[in-house]
Amino acid sequence: MISLNNISKSYKLGKEEVPILKNISLSIKEGEFVAIMGPSGSGKSTLMNILGCLDRPSTGHYLLDGQDLLTRKDGLLADIRNRSIGFVFQQFHLLPRQTALQNVELPLVYAKAKKQERRERALDALKKVGLEDRVRFKPTQLSGGQKQRVAIARALVTNPRFILADEPTGALDSRSSEQVLELFSSLHQEGKTVVMITHDHDVAKKAERTIFIRDGELLTEEETSHV
Ligand SMILES: Nc1ncnc2c1ncn2[C@@H]1O[C@H](COP(=O)(O)OP(=O)(O)O)[C@@H](O)[C@H]1O
Ligand SMILES: [Mg+2]
Repeated sequence: MISLNNISKSYKLGKEEVPILKNISLSIKEGEFVAIMGPSGSGKSTLMNILGCLDRPSTGHYLLDGQDLLTRKDGLLADIRNRSIGFVFQQFHLLPRQTALQNVELPLVYAKAKKQERRERALDALKKVGLEDRVRFKPTQLSGGQKQRVAIARALVTNPRFILADEPTGALDSRSSEQVLELFSSLHQEGKTVVMITHDHDVAKKAERTIFIRDGELLTEEETSHV
């Protein structure tokens, strides 16, 4: 489903090019649940932004369903992103003045769905994460775990095949983390492809496979066996 070939990313710092990702190649099959682990600053979020078509690499190829995405125009990348990918972030990224329901409806507003359909699908998604009794609450009236479940409902509402989560339990207590991980496991069981970034070994254990990154490079299998 997903294949990265020799992806590099660097940022310009004054006159200097600072390499962040170096020659990353990896593939992820449809329906896999993969964790990406690495220390802070190793390039995990940069890699997630590329996987999620939020950013483009400096060099390399990114194939999604066999299409080379990097030759595509920004508008098309945005379409692919909206249709195929659901995002979950450590800090939830909810709109503070909107209710849970309005936050979950937002991707459907962008997808130009009709009001009635938006409402029904957002309610379904909130039910799925166990928050049907919180639909009128605003983020400030919700706990961290509930906010993350609203964010997961928002990621699911367009029915994407691919869920990308960047440290989704990083801001949560252990009980809420457990609930969030259970949700990801059940999405995986339903057949979704889940990629979860974490720096927590216990969190990574929930995935079928873990990819390790250090200083912008993936560890080899040999190196991984020593982690
Ligand atoms: N927009 C940017 N411009 C310059 N450097 C950046 C930018 N984004 C990230 N970096 C640098 O890239 C490195 C990796 O960052 P990041 O991908 O956020 O790491 P992680 O998520 O693993 O903590 C860090 O050294 C960071 O300072
Ligand atoms: Mg990060």
